Order: sequence, then C-alpha cells, then structure tokens
Amino acid sequence: MSDMSIEKLIDLAREASTRSYSPYSRFPVGCAIETADGDFFTGCNVENISFGLSMCAERSAVFSAISRCGPNLRIRRVVIYTPTEEAITPCGACRQVLREFGNDFEVVSVNKNGKMLGFTIDQLLPDSPDIRFRESDK
Ligand code: THU
Repeated sequence: MSDMSIEKLIDLAREASTRSYSPYSRFPVGCAIETADGDFFTGCNVENISFGLSMCAERSAVFSAISRCGPNLRIRRVVIYTPTEEAITPCGACRQVLREFGNDFEVVSVNKNGKMLGFTIDQLLPDSPDIRFRESDK
C-alpha cells in the first residue's frame, strides 16, 4: 500500500489537536500514526482534574489503533502536532508505548508554523529490547 504523504499526516494530527480536551494545561496536542498497512489513526490529549490521569495524544492514537484494528499494529510513522512556537518531543511514557509497536520508524513533530523535528524511535528510546513476541517479527 502507498505511503501517506507527510502533509496528509500533518493535517490529520492538526485536526486531532482541535479535538483535544486540555482545559488545565491549555496545551492541545494531536497525533497521527501511519501503520505498516498504510492505514492511519489519530489521537489527542485528554486531561483530567486529577492531573495524573491525563492521557497524551500519542498514547491515545496507539490505543485507538489497537481498539479499531486489533493487536497486530505495526507503526510506520508518527506525526505529532502542537499549535506552539516550538515543536515538542514525546514524553518517556509515550516513547515506550510507541516502541512496543515498531522497531524502526520515524517520529516527526510539527509546530504551528510547520517547523519540523524528526527522530527515529531508536533516538528517542535507545537500546530498548526488540519486540519478539510475534512470529512474523523474528
Ligand atoms: N502532551 C501530549 O499529549 N503529548 C506530548 O508529547 C507532550 C505532552 C500533553 C499532556 C498534557 O495534556 C499537555 O500536553 C501538557 O503537558
């Protein structure tokens, strides 16, 4: 299946950020995940008055993907969007959760002016163990 263009993924992440529930931080975040199948899923951050229960956009997108398509998610690319001056990098928890579903993919973060930061998942979470539980990945 064909690769989705980066522009399309940025649009999806930007659109997802507009659905963010972030009344406490006022920091909306959107995320779009492109899968190895050429499918895509989005997520946004969802906060709570009990701050620690808030969920980041990246993990929302992963959980949405699994919920809709099942446990064989393989990530091809992740795009994060924030309407801020600086593009952000994902938190440690999100790095770990993203890493569970791919050994080798790119994470792109985009700010409101279209400025991009790009990382491989290995740069974000170096020396993490390969995911070996699926036969097809061995
Ligand atoms: N947030 C994300 O959704 N993704 C990130 O990569 C960084 C932070 C959210 C969590 C919280 O709702 C708000 O942004 C402020 O930290």
